[in-house]
Amino acid sequence: CCHSTVSYRPIRPSDLEILEQIHGDIFPIRYESEFFQDVVHGHGIVSWAAVDHSRGDGKGDELIGFVTARVVLATESEIVDLLDYDSAESEWSLVYILTLGVVDKYRNLGIASSLILEVIKYACSIPTCRAVYLHVISYNFPAIHLYKKMSFKCIRKLLGFYLIDGQHYDSYLFVYFVQGC
Ligand code: ACO
Repeated sequence: CCHSTVSYRPIRPSDLEILEQIHGDIFPIRYESEFFQDVVHGHGIVSWAAVDHSRGDGKGDELIGFVTARVVLATESEIVDLLDYDSAESEWSLVYILTLGVVDKYRNLGIASSLILEVIKYACSIPTCRAVYLHVISYNFPAIHLYKKMSFKCIRKLLGFYLIDGQHYDSYLFVYFVQGC
């Protein structure tokens, strides 16, 4: 199929509309328009888009998948306790994955795995970075399977972390340590 024609690039301002549309289609949580503005302008957010060059109708550069992430200070994160942290390491950072998604038709081709590898490579390129981490809602089995396959460790269950349509749902916190890679 299309695998070899898929490539990865940063998300840019021209992706705004499709980025918002896909988030709306595949996530149960609504994101503010400020979030999408920050993504496409790279304001405090790093991102990768997947595109399929073999698509017709001028869609060869249209998003079929994405990952968005933020670099955070380890001291300000909820996983500082996992890091053997002491005051000498005040500069340690982490990469927090905000959103990851692939449009339905392109799933199970390894695109999300490739997007995660881009994030891991980026994290490894930051000398102060110690880990990549993320939250996933507890019923999202495809995503949980994917993170385990990518060697993320499930380190915490957060009860009632998500509030969707007035209902609470648990989340799992997954971490991939990058020290030494
Ligand atoms: N149950 C268990 N595993 C599944 C299921 C399922 N229903 N469906 C697919 N999988 C497995 C596949 O078999 C494959 O694993 P394998 O290689 O061992 O066979 C793996 O999940 C998929 O790997 P990829 O092809 O790399 O992933 P894909 O490109 O299909 O994208 C994703 C996965 C991102 C979870 C996609 O399904 C999606 O966009 N879902 C909706 C949005 C979402 O849930 N995003 C993640 C939320 S968490 C966050 O954003 C931080």
